[in-house]
Amino acid sequence: MKVREKFIIADTQYQQIAVDFAAQMAFGIQGLPSCFKMLPSYLPRACGQERGQYLSLDFGGTNVRAVLVELAGCGRVNIVRSAARPIPVQLTGSAAQAEQLFDFIAELIAEVAQAEQAYALGHTFSFPVRQTDINSGVLVEWAKEFATAGVVGSDINSLLRKALAARGLVSVQPQVLLNDTVATLLAASYTDKNTIIGSICGTGHNTAFFDPTSNMIINLEAGNFDLLPVNEYDLLLDAVSNNPGRQKLEKMTAGRYLGELFRLAVQREDFAQPFALDTQLLAEIICGQDARFDQVEQELAVAIVQRAASLVAASYAGVLSYLNLEPGRHYSIAIDGSLYEKMPLYAAGIRATLDRLMAEQTEHIRIFAESRGSSVGGAVAAALASKSFCEEDI
Ligand code: GLC
Repeated sequence: MKVREKFIIADTQYQQIAVDFAAQMAFGIQGLPSCFKMLPSYLPRACGQERGQYLSLDFGGTNVRAVLVELAGCGRVNIVRSAARPIPVQLTGSAAQAEQLFDFIAELIAEVAQAEQAYALGHTFSFPVRQTDINSGVLVEWAKEFATAGVVGSDINSLLRKALAARGLVSVQPQVLLNDTVATLLAASYTDKNTIIGSICGTGHNTAFFDPTSNMIINLEAGNFDLLPVNEYDLLLDAVSNNPGRQKLEKMTAGRYLGELFRLAVQREDFAQPFALDTQLLAEIICGQDARFDQVEQELAVAIVQRAASLVAASYAGVLSYLNLEPGRHYSIAIDGSLYEKMPLYAAGIRATLDRLMAEQTEHIRIFAESRGSSVGGAVAAALASKSFCEEDI
């Protein structure tokens, strides 16, 4: 069998993945054993009339960003100021301490906040956090190869508050803690009230959905879905990762891993180092822009990306079937993340596979890029926490 063929999955298998995905959601929501954590966000959707200036902190991918956002109501948004910086790798390893990581974040917030002004901050922290209310929650485990010491088991906004206080930024008040999938759903629902799924296809992969029963957005931690047809390269990647046996769907679909999967499958001496081949290069190979790679290798790269997109689509089909939607109504899926925005074939692959898997039932399903998910979503969450919208507007 050619290496490329090992990355091809039949539609019948994608159908099965959708069925299993929905079943795992149903188990998770009932508190039965499930690969999903089903983490409550304590947040409803946006009503579109939230107003005011809020600070948004976005932490959990390749960059950390602080953004001052003005919500103007009627779905209108202005970005007032922002600062972003790549997270130094030495802060993400197990040798680094929580205090060092959160001081780096506080330093960035200081660039956006003015000392004399008070700010409510929405903290988008893109890892599995078990919350007890809108503003408190502990990190369950790291993902995406992060391993900083002293964060798992700690209350995330307490760590942030301490770091802000140490820098004299007491006027910045963290008021909400939320996952990036929740932020994406919130940001999207600020302008599109039909949004029922928020998803990230970036460094990591995860999905949240709006649960009408609890009137709350729930974070699946979908990257941990594991009823999947894996090949020998998936197993190899899993074995050398920081979290073997965990986050199997994420390892087959997300930006942190796709280049590595290709590197393991292609076995070239000039790319002997683990993680030496990133998603940027994978995108160039797919477009035939790197003469070092031949057509067979290009087709392999295409197969890896197409499988990733199709797996994500199958997971959305699973969520939609779990939600048991009203026929004929419009629903929206909002996606944020670099892979969805930039990786050739990825966005088109999601749409095409969803259409195939759901046959004629997809014309009412809008899939769109919500590229300001974490900044606007964090601000909307802070507005919801401070109830800064006119009740009569709803
Ligand atoms: C990882 C995290 C999850 C996050 C996703 C996307 O899967 O566990 O919380 O939403 O990455 O950033």
